[in-house]
Amino acid sequence: MLENQTRGFANLSEAKRYTVTAALPYTNGPIHIGHLAGVYVPSDIYARYLRLQGKDVAFICGSDEHGVAISMKAKKEGITPQQVIDKYDGIIRQSFSDFGISFDNYSRTSSKIHHETASAFFKKLYDNGDFIEEVTEQLYDAKADQFLADRFVTGTCPKCENPEAYGDQCERCGSTLNATDLINPKSTITGETPILKSTKHWFLPLDRYQDFLQKWILVDHAKDWKVNVLGQVKSWLDDGLKPRAVTRDLDWGIDVPVEGAQGKKLYVWFDAPIGYISSTKEWAAREGKNWEPYWKDADTKLVHFIGKDNIVFHCIIFPAMLKAEGSFILPDNVPANEFLNLEGNKLSTSKNWAVWLHEYLIDFPGKQDVLRYALTANAPETKDNDFTWKDFQARNNNELAAVFGNFINRVVVLTNKYYDGIVPTPNELTEVDEQTLAELKAYPAVIASSIERYRFREAQGELMNVARLGNKYLADEEPWKMVKTDPARVQTQMYVALQIATALSVLAEPFLPFTAKKLSSILKTNIPWSSVSETSDLLPAGHQIGEAEILFAQIEDAEIQKQIDKLEATKKANVMENQVVEPQKATATFEDFAQLDLRVGTILEAEKMPKANKLLVLKVDTGIDVRTIVSGIAEHFSPEEVIGKRVTVLVNLAPRALRGVESQGMILMTNDAEGKLVFVNPEGEGVKNGALIS
Ligand code: MF3
Ligand code: ZN
Repeated sequence: MLENQTRGFANLSEAKRYTVTAALPYTNGPIHIGHLAGVYVPSDIYARYLRLQGKDVAFICGSDEHGVAISMKAKKEGITPQQVIDKYDGIIRQSFSDFGISFDNYSRTSSKIHHETASAFFKKLYDNGDFIEEVTEQLYDAKADQFLADRFVTGTCPKCENPEAYGDQCERCGSTLNATDLINPKSTITGETPILKSTKHWFLPLDRYQDFLQKWILVDHAKDWKVNVLGQVKSWLDDGLKPRAVTRDLDWGIDVPVEGAQGKKLYVWFDAPIGYISSTKEWAAREGKNWEPYWKDADTKLVHFIGKDNIVFHCIIFPAMLKAEGSFILPDNVPANEFLNLEGNKLSTSKNWAVWLHEYLIDFPGKQDVLRYALTANAPETKDNDFTWKDFQARNNNELAAVFGNFINRVVVLTNKYYDGIVPTPNELTEVDEQTLAELKAYPAVIASSIERYRFREAQGELMNVARLGNKYLADEEPWKMVKTDPARVQTQMYVALQIATALSVLAEPFLPFTAKKLSSILKTNIPWSSVSETSDLLPAGHQIGEAEILFAQIEDAEIQKQIDKLEATKKANVMENQVVEPQKATATFEDFAQLDLRVGTILEAEKMPKANKLLVLKVDTGIDVRTIVSGIAEHFSPEEVIGKRVTVLVNLAPRALRGVESQGMILMTNDAEGKLVFVNPEGEGVKNGALIS
């Protein structure tokens, strides 16, 4: 048996192959920009970069189709879990593929190979005696006749007092919890307070791995893992690890493959990471390869791309599982990202607060790279960040179009104009030319170093510096000014500029794959990454290039406004949905009602009550008379806004003095979706003031 490999790789050349995993998305909803920024764009940049280095890469993902998230979605939509996973697996797969995420394999945890792999993994640990088997009291919803775990139960987090913590995790402070840790637990199925009921489960004794994890992560990887990851790991280790149940009383999931476990399923966080292994197996079988070196050979570098809510599972629980199993390697790094917010609010699948990938692809056809670019430029690598549509537009218009696109366009247009698209022969190089070409040669190493340290926004910034180098060169040299007077010099200038454009066609590939492809086809070239640092003759004299094409069109305000309006509509819909309808009041007799005298009126005058924030003093024509009514609406309306408004007035309310002004009635109001007060208006033509409402 191979001892799990725990040493890190100092640089790329040390690893023989790469297993790059991206967190398996739950199939309870489509993919949104938070998933992309956190996991899929950075992992795709990394995988594409490695392939450009000629590395042997398995870029692995798949759908996470078990767990309570799926069951809950099925309940909510009134369909079966199988229907839920089929629906979202389909949407997710398609959108990843259209977006250009270059997975070598995208599998699903409902597949046969995964069920077999996860069962065998559990069985091996079971046979090794790696589990504790124990009957404990767990939360039980008597009304739903079901045990509650994970997302089936919410309550107050014992660590941070977040009242909406889940049974397995608190999203506010990031702690992993056991359902029984929650204060005031409530079933998310029925809203009932659960009772305790005994049930048998299998626990992974994480405490046995405490020392090993401590050394492996906090000592051996103290320098190369991200600070946010080390911080979270340290806080769990400081708390002391405890045994964790890896089985559940559920009806959706993988059967626990041992005797006496009838009706029990594997905990989703036990089976899902094994999905990386089964997906690798599926890929290898299809490609005629052996999967084992990708998971068992010490020369393989395993990297898990995840969001911060997955850190404990990938740094503590899964490594403990792998360690227990014994024959697998451990991750070399887990470059977890923080969260992306959207226009100042947390992204949320259930609240529909998201930019959905499949919708983006329809709304912005052919603009995959713009989203990739904006998300990387603003990636939540070290702290939470905010996506705004205005920033997205600015990134496209001011950076991609104005810098990258503009440079390429100038080079290609001028080459066609001056030389019919044939790369000119350079003459003597000036110092500036030499220096520019030397600078260009240095970029692959600079970009590589950032990527290898998982600093993708920095890496992409350096890519843009290559385009800036080109732009500056042209702006300083101004070949268009001397093409008549010094054509020999212009040949050299255009040759140099073409070398920069060619370098961009390969250096951009990990970040902007669609653009890189388009650029390669415009330049009719396809050079390897390594040649950028090896030669300054990337596009030789005499080579024929193609016609110019727009790489990045301007994004207009109207397109952005449409997206902002869409989010506004979502906000409204959410407020509506959350509005609680007050229970009905006690019965009123007809006589009670008949006593209320409601009339149609018009507000004639309005002014602020001095020294009162909430009150307006109104003069209202009630049809009976014009009277004073003091109304608590000043925080919602300016006086000017209400003058002339038709309203419903309760005219026989006993008068009462407010700040010394006698109010002779009340105006009926209600709240709109945003909690703003609105008048309950008598509508209809020809309704006169004083008309009785009955
Ligand atoms: N489905 C999980 C989530 O979206 C991630 C699972 S990652 C895996 O948070 F390792 F378990 F596969
Ligand atoms: Zn908490």
